[in-house]
Amino acid sequence: MTETIFEKSRPGRETGYLPELDVPEANGIIPEEFLRKSNSLPELNEVEIIRHFNELSKKNFGVDNGFYPLGSCTMKYNPKISEELAALSGFAGVHPYAKEEDVQGSLQLMYGLQEQLKEITGMHSITLQPAAGAHGELTGLMMVKAYFKSRKEKRNIILTPDSSHGTNPASAAMCNFETVTIKSNEKGQTDIEDLKANLTGDAAAIMLTIPNTLGIFEEKILEITKLAHDNGSLVYMDGANMNALLGKARPEDMDIDILHLNLHKTFSAPHGCGGPGCGPVAATRELEPFLPVPRIEKTGNRYFLNRNKPSSIGRIKSFYGNFQVMIKACTYINALGTDGLKKVSKHAVLNANYLKEKLKQHFNLKYDYLCKHEFVLDDSKMPNHITTLDIAKGLLDYNFHPPTIYFPLIVEGAMMIEPTETENKDTLDKFAHALIKIKEQAATAPKIIKNSPYKTPVKRLDEVQAARKPVLKFSPGLKN
Ligand SMILES: Cc1ncc(COP(=O)(O)O)c(C=O)c1O
Repeated sequence: MTETIFEKSRPGRETGYLPELDVPEANGIIPEEFLRKSNSLPELNEVEIIRHFNELSKKNFGVDNGFYPLGSCTMKYNPKISEELAALSGFAGVHPYAKEEDVQGSLQLMYGLQEQLKEITGMHSITLQPAAGAHGELTGLMMVKAYFKSRKEKRNIILTPDSSHGTNPASAAMCNFETVTIKSNEKGQTDIEDLKANLTGDAAAIMLTIPNTLGIFEEKILEITKLAHDNGSLVYMDGANMNALLGKARPEDMDIDILHLNLHKTFSAPHGCGGPGCGPVAATRELEPFLPVPRIEKTGNRYFLNRNKPSSIGRIKSFYGNFQVMIKACTYINALGTDGLKKVSKHAVLNANYLKEKLKQHFNLKYDYLCKHEFVLDDSKMPNHITTLDIAKGLLDYNFHPPTIYFPLIVEGAMMIEPTETENKDTLDKFAHALIKIKEQAATAPKIIKNSPYKTPVKRLDEVQAARKPVLKFSPGLKN
């Protein structure tokens, strides 16, 4: 373990670089009661500080230093040009309270991005305001609620298939809906009979993750949307996995009423660890009046923020959401163009199927169908009671980030692998090789895998304690 900066601290150590203060001290500006009596800042000189933080940064694992097949989360390489453009001072320095006339360029960028996302999804209207995928879900469901209220209909149920992303039922519950789970069939898709049985007059919407968390596309999507619409219910699509469909299938053509996208997954922005996201919500003409305000609109050559939308659910994010993520998405879309975006989904699907075919000979694949961007293996073929968690830990010694584990819940001991379109065949082969080696070792030397990892700064943590009682600040004297 690296010593903390406080443990490295030595009294009196300083840079000795800045000259003594040669102007009178501004005493008395801060009232006495607010002044610190003692200070617990570490005392180190500059080079020690630089070395300390460099040492820590090298222990970080991210897409820039290794393969990160975290299923559903789409950890792909994000072109650095997007970062550079987002950092241009004209964008980075723009003030959220600036007058509309002074930020026409920024509004133009957002308007243009809206238009592109409308073309990609085929939907009528869009907002870029939500801060993340789950926030988009909440926004969309608030709109569903407002829609039924405007029609004076009482519908309080959201149907979520058991293969949907975990945030879907959570968002429905946060929006004060009751959730009813729909079973999957043997092909990992929505069970139509179970759906029919639950499509009652109380069903406000069915919320489908497309492709779902098994990486499988709903072949019967048109039948599902028709059944829902015939029942007077809406269809919400969790479109966070749009990287599997770009340029190939449009939600509008599937008769979807409302959906969100994850710009921070599909359209290039570093994602994870709570970094800023952007979860635009797109809707049909019928649902358009309920979109949040302000809306970015255009008359002639002038862009403006329209707050005058009486049926809107209101504002759901301060200012206009996470602008920098929008710039990155805009750069990505314009740099790739239509053909490039089609290639993104083609390669994401190809990579996932290549890896799936290689690995299914060694690991159990409960749903063995053509997958989209990801697939789910499990640990049922592992010898000597080696579990999914052991495999994940073993992978760390091969310098791979583990896949998502124990999700989706419909696969026991799940390993949800998403290679993404940005990895090449060599990397996929090396990853498959590492997994196969771990399986071989599980048969011959299981103890080695059980005690892995060996090459990381910390070994096996008490993960429950770490999640439930995280220690996020330094307290002198506290040892890990
Ligand atoms: C299918 C799906 N839906 C929703 C989300 C939630 O998105 P966010 O993490 O931005 O809230 C994710 C997360 O990656 C996802 O994969």
